[in-house]
Amino acid sequence: MNDPTVGPSHDGAGPSGSAVVIDGVSKQFTVHGRTSQALVDVALDAPRGEITSLVGPSGCGKSTVLNLIAGTIEPETGSVRHNGAPVVAINHDVAYLPQGDDLFPWRTVMDNVALPLELRRVSRAARHRQAREILALFGLAGRESSYPAQLSGGMRKRVQIARALLSGVDTLLMDEPFGALDAQLKVRMQIDLLERVHRQTGNTILFVTHDLAEAVALGDRVVVFSPGPGHVIHVENIDDLGDRSDLLSLTESPEFQRHVRTLWSLVAPELVHRSAASGATP
Ligand SMILES: Nc1ncnc2c1ncn2[C@@H]1O[C@H](COP(=O)(O)OP(=O)(O)O)[C@@H](O)[C@H]1O
Ligand SMILES: [Mg+2]
Repeated sequence: MNDPTVGPSHDGAGPSGSAVVIDGVSKQFTVHGRTSQALVDVALDAPRGEITSLVGPSGCGKSTVLNLIAGTIEPETGSVRHNGAPVVAINHDVAYLPQGDDLFPWRTVMDNVALPLELRRVSRAARHRQAREILALFGLAGRESSYPAQLSGGMRKRVQIARALLSGVDTLLMDEPFGALDAQLKVRMQIDLLERVHRQTGNTILFVTHDLAEAVALGDRVVVFSPGPGHVIHVENIDDLGDRSDLLSLTESPEFQRHVRTLWSLVAPELVHRSAASGATP
């Protein structure tokens, strides 16, 4: 299990196969001499070019999984591979959108978005041109010289996504990106993610959310974690929804509702049993 050369059989490094393969991973944290187990024997793989949603109760280790893929922490046991190679240091081949907002408050929108190009020493004119194009795509034309504090939460999220796209990597790690947005804006951002990001780029996306309907609406598959210490208890394949361009109608389809109900029964069985008894749907 701990031998990095032994992975799941579908550890593909080619154009299809898996972008991320996690096998036998356990992770613990020690704070002030007290050790707690965050993940136990986690196995997970994220097919290339697909959206993999990760759900599970708060504290089950979803963010820890993204941190392992980003290489900001290391597992005690098991292996984490990205694009066929073991992750052993900070992984510069993923774009990580942490929970909350990690924009630099002292940089303008333009200079936040263009940062990945600046780090690659792309000329100022070229990086500003590319940043302007992508900002226009995300409805932020005219906001280039604003500072993050002058933007709404939805706009700041768009700036984070635009910056991730300019980094040119093929894998996005998104940690509850739309959790703080109001209901309408959330749906708008979900449509943007499907149409402007995923359909245009074909990127692999790992999408952490506590919203089970969102996990189904966006995911090609949903990986369900147990309560902490987390391990994978179920993988729900979402392959029967057809075209997702009309997200609102999609949520009314029986297939969609069946997937969401299955997830509820795994994440919060006590609520499903109670609502079944009273005739309500969760
Ligand atoms: N950097 C850290 N230091 C100490 N404990 C941590 C750290 N990151 C996560 N944990 C602990 O690991 C467990 C899983 O956390 P996390 O991955 O944030 O869960 P989730 O994202 O599913 O809510 C929690 O008990 C949390 O307190
Ligand atoms: Mg988290």
